[in-house]
Amino acid sequence: MSMVTSEHLYKAFGRFMAVRDVCFSVERGEIVGFLGPNGAGKTTTMKMLTGYLPPTAGTASIAGHDIMEEPLEARRHMGYMPENVPLYDEMRVYEYLSYRARIKGLYGSFVRKQVGFVIDRCGLEPKRKDMIRTLSKGYRQRVGLADALLGEPELLILDEPTNGLDPNQIRQIRELIRSLAAEHTVILSTHILSEVEMICNKVIIIDNGAIKAADTPEKLTGGLRAAGRVSVEYKGDLDPVMKELSLIPSVKKIIYEGLLPGGWQRLIVRAEPGTDTREKIAAVINRLGYPVRHLYRHIPSLEDVFVEMTRHD
Ligand SMILES: Nc1ncnc2c1ncn2[C@@H]1O[C@H](COP(=O)(O)OP(=O)(O)OP(=O)(O)O)[C@@H](O)[C@H]1O
Ligand SMILES: [Mg+2]
Repeated sequence: MSMVTSEHLYKAFGRFMAVRDVCFSVERGEIVGFLGPNGAGKTTTMKMLTGYLPPTAGTASIAGHDIMEEPLEARRHMGYMPENVPLYDEMRVYEYLSYRARIKGLYGSFVRKQVGFVIDRCGLEPKRKDMIRTLSKGYRQRVGLADALLGEPELLILDEPTNGLDPNQIRQIRELIRSLAAEHTVILSTHILSEVEMICNKVIIIDNGAIKAADTPEKLTGGLRAAGRVSVEYKGDLDPVMKELSLIPSVKKIIYEGLLPGGWQRLIVRAEPGTDTREKIAAVINRLGYPVRHLYRHIPSLEDVFVEMTRHD
């Protein structure tokens, strides 16, 4: 059974369709990155999964429990960190977390144990007695994350957990999420693509309320046109090299970039996405007896995928 299944989810706000026909599933142990431009529908989708917004159409289930028919059961399996973590400014960190633990149905000695556990896990020990209003943004985020972790739910749904943090804090929160991934399934949204590349094993790209792509980061980047591009620099004649290279089956196009100082020729070889023609290119040029000083296969990033999928021009 999948940890999360979303079947044809729609959400309308008046006549505006914010989410349309969103279908995906998340397996246990996966770390899924939700990517999309501002207003794409990430938060709206997460709110439907967590039961905070009823879908206009479609269904979703968490650990086999339908979010509409068994909302309490579904919620028992997940912790949610919303986009803007609502915190009570006039409470101390441990008081707030104890209060949240009780709301989540923990009682007796479990409250103290769980609060101690999440404070430790999120590095909040030095701030446990501080008033929430005095906390920096990074620590407020940690309190939000600690809240989501209370009760050790199997699934964590984190809406931009690193939003507004400085690079050091981002790194710390990222490490924290990565460490949580050992025991939890995680769905997180973010605008930071390098973050997704580093921690997620599945990416869902959403734009204009609809899913544009869902796959592993490797498959998404490997499928791009840019994925087959190799640049090469060698010293020798142009014509025989161009002719021989064009005979390599996966090569689609050869672009001459010009003569560099010292007599080096620079070419770009475009081949089928997902192919690596470096060895063949080197062999061809070596056979002609020319020296090669540069051979580089362009590795597209998730940013390339994101731009290609969500560009509106
Ligand atoms: N309560 C609401 N009433 C009307 N429109 C809404 C409401 N909530 C969201 N929307 C609209 O739905 C669309 C999706 O919003 P959502 O917050 O899900 O985007 P997002 O992908 O989370 O964006 P961001 O990256 O900025 O957080 C937007 O156009 C937004 O204006
Ligand atoms: Mg959002």
